[in-house]
Amino acid sequence: MRSRRDFLKVAGCLTTGTLLSHRFAWAQSGKLKVGLMLPYTGTYAALGNAITSGFKLAVAERSGRLGGRELEYFTVDDESDPSKAPENTNRLVQRDKVDVLIGTVHSGVALGMVKIARETGTLLLIPNAGAAAATGELCSPNIFRTSFSNWQTGYPMGKVVADRGLKNVVAITWKYAAGEESIGGFSEGLTKGGGKVVKELWVPFPQVEFQALLTQIASLKPDAVYTFFAGAGAVKFVKDYAAAGLKGKIPLFGSGFLTDGVLEAQGEAAQGLETTLHYGDGLDTPRNKAFRQAYSKANKGEPDVYAVQGYDTGLLLAAGLEAVRGDASKKNDLIAALEKARIDSPRGAWTLSKAHNPIQDIYLRKVVGTQNKVIGVAHKALEDPARGCNMKKT
Ligand code: BEZ
Repeated sequence: MRSRRDFLKVAGCLTTGTLLSHRFAWAQSGKLKVGLMLPYTGTYAALGNAITSGFKLAVAERSGRLGGRELEYFTVDDESDPSKAPENTNRLVQRDKVDVLIGTVHSGVALGMVKIARETGTLLLIPNAGAAAATGELCSPNIFRTSFSNWQTGYPMGKVVADRGLKNVVAITWKYAAGEESIGGFSEGLTKGGGKVVKELWVPFPQVEFQALLTQIASLKPDAVYTFFAGAGAVKFVKDYAAAGLKGKIPLFGSGFLTDGVLEAQGEAAQGLETTLHYGDGLDTPRNKAFRQAYSKANKGEPDVYAVQGYDTGLLLAAGLEAVRGDASKKNDLIAALEKARIDSPRGAWTLSKAHNPIQDIYLRKVVGTQNKVIGVAHKALEDPARGCNMKKT
């Protein structure tokens, strides 16, 4: 391989004009710096790992190059701790000078990343966190989400529950943006269908002490319970709900994070649970089957929604970089290409809204064995309302 000194020696023999064009070629053939800021420890560790594996699969399918550029990874474990988000993000942006930031899972941490991305203009791709503000009041030309908004996965379930005549519902969740906005969306759908959230019960993130609240639910005797929990918290909640004798007595519903990627650990306690999400591992399409096969071959376990989101982040970045032939400094062209991308995803094809959030089908799923089986489409091509987004083009 040629060293930089060799390159300069060769360049020295050339005219100034040619030299400039060679320098340009050198810059473009360097590696693209990708900052992965995700949780690799704690409650959401499995989610961060699945996103990373999905992203790397999309890159591997392109022989390790996006838009002709090899990638160099800079990785930070954000621990799902919002208080560490500014320092962690700055490490990637200021110290490592990444070309693109990818992160994260936890809504509170993501909002810390959004703030720095807005201040510095760094391209930010959000592969999970559903915080409304990221594609709402804090929307920005350089911020894109490849996953969902918290509203988007809760709202359709409100309608499903109301249509079943279950009108008085207790909601229980972690007290932070993801839980609050998931319940907000659910409540909006339920209210439209003539129902009501009669009580909201809160647990501080990432605590998993549910006993006292489950006792309260038993005495309230609602028609149904709606919940948002994910990762290790979802495993504990579903098991505790069954152990408290509530399963089979008060129907439990949730956004699909309740049962995604955790069915082996939840076992019998999860059987029959119905949730709404933009993916289902039983989706019977050639695209999904091919993805699942490729993912299982490259990794130890089966893919889940987080792996799909990581994979789709790779597909979106590939679409953008291919349009600018790997030149990430062509910011406006890159953004325009990302905005008009149509992602042929294992979840079904999706495009981005004006606020940069996927417009996508939301499926109704039911746990059967170790699968989140798709049993219907709860809402076709659902777009987040993007409240407060005023996209200022540069
Ligand atoms: C969130 O914090 O936005 C989130 C975390 C895990 C799963 C889904 C959403």
